[in-house]
Amino acid sequence: MKNVIEVTELRKNYNALAAVDSISFEVEEGEVFGFLGPNGAGKTTTVRMLTGIIKPTSGRISIMGFGIEQDPIKAKQLIGVVPELSNAYNELSAWNNLQFMAELYGVSGRVARGRAEELLTKFDLYDRRDTKVKTFSKGMKQKLTIAMALMNDPEILFLDEPTSGLDVRSARLIKKMMRELNNAGTTIFLTTHYMEEANQLCSRVAIINHGRIAAIDAPEKLKTRIGGLEWVEVSFSTPVTVSDLPDLPQVLEVRSSGDKLQLYTDEPGSTISRLVDYARSTDRTIVTLNTLTPTLEDVFIKLTGDGRAG
Ligand SMILES: Nc1ncnc2c1ncn2[C@@H]1O[C@H](COP(=O)(O)OP(=O)(O)OP(=O)(O)O)[C@@H](O)[C@H]1O
Ligand SMILES: [Mg+2]
Repeated sequence: MKNVIEVTELRKNYNALAAVDSISFEVEEGEVFGFLGPNGAGKTTTVRMLTGIIKPTSGRISIMGFGIEQDPIKAKQLIGVVPELSNAYNELSAWNNLQFMAELYGVSGRVARGRAEELLTKFDLYDRRDTKVKTFSKGMKQKLTIAMALMNDPEILFLDEPTSGLDVRSARLIKKMMRELNNAGTTIFLTTHYMEEANQLCSRVAIINHGRIAAIDAPEKLKTRIGGLEWVEVSFSTPVTVSDLPDLPQVLEVRSSGDKLQLYTDEPGSTISRLVDYARSTDRTIVTLNTLTPTLEDVFIKLTGDGRAG
């Protein structure tokens, strides 16, 4: 696979603060790449450097082979940007905002009109095309902002918290749109605070904290990487209390949760066979048995917790 974004030792200092502290990573063609981190981690600063809005203090950014500082015009033609704060003009209509973007990118009049119609229809905004953006709800404005970013038919789409503060339906529509675009070949760089959204959409995620990359991998791989400890949750045909269970050396903690028992272990496999043995020897059957694997949120908390989270 070809890298469409290459970032090398990228840094941004604001006075004494290293908002982005020498990060390096690549994004492959066709990925949905997630960029996760707590407030103030440096996500927006990174996106703004990658999209040529602010200059890095040092480091190098390449967009499909074009340096964002060396070849800004060529690099910017390849990207679409949905900023953290919408760049739509409140005093312009939806239609005129889209035409304005088309002009910026040099998209010709006929192509621009066709694309604007298509995008407004897709985002359910066609009937409101001539109304000023200042009358739009948050969700409508966000959909328009995404449409604006798509006016130049970009190869790579950057979205900085695109579903933040939206209702479930609007958020779903935006996620669906990201999936469709990605299926059609667009590479997506996404920052989000919604772990489940990242888990569903991203082929890989970077977790950034205090301007540094704490981990970068596929969500499932990140989950297996943290500790290897899992909860095994079991329920039996007749009640079993914590003290009924035999001593299981590989189990670090047992707790009861409703009609279930939960066992915290680094050896889920052998714990499960011990539970089966126990059921057999006491003439019980196992009604349900699950392993509760870590979530992306567990990974996030572990990597960004500073020892305070839990
Ligand atoms: N223009 C600026 N001048 C000074 N400091 C800044 C500037 N922009 C960002 N910072 C600082 O850089 C750090 C990273 O900010 P950034 O906006 O990149 O965080 P973020 O990860 O996007 O956070 P959030 O999740 O809240 O959007 C913060 O400490 C912020 O205060
Ligand atoms: Mg931000």
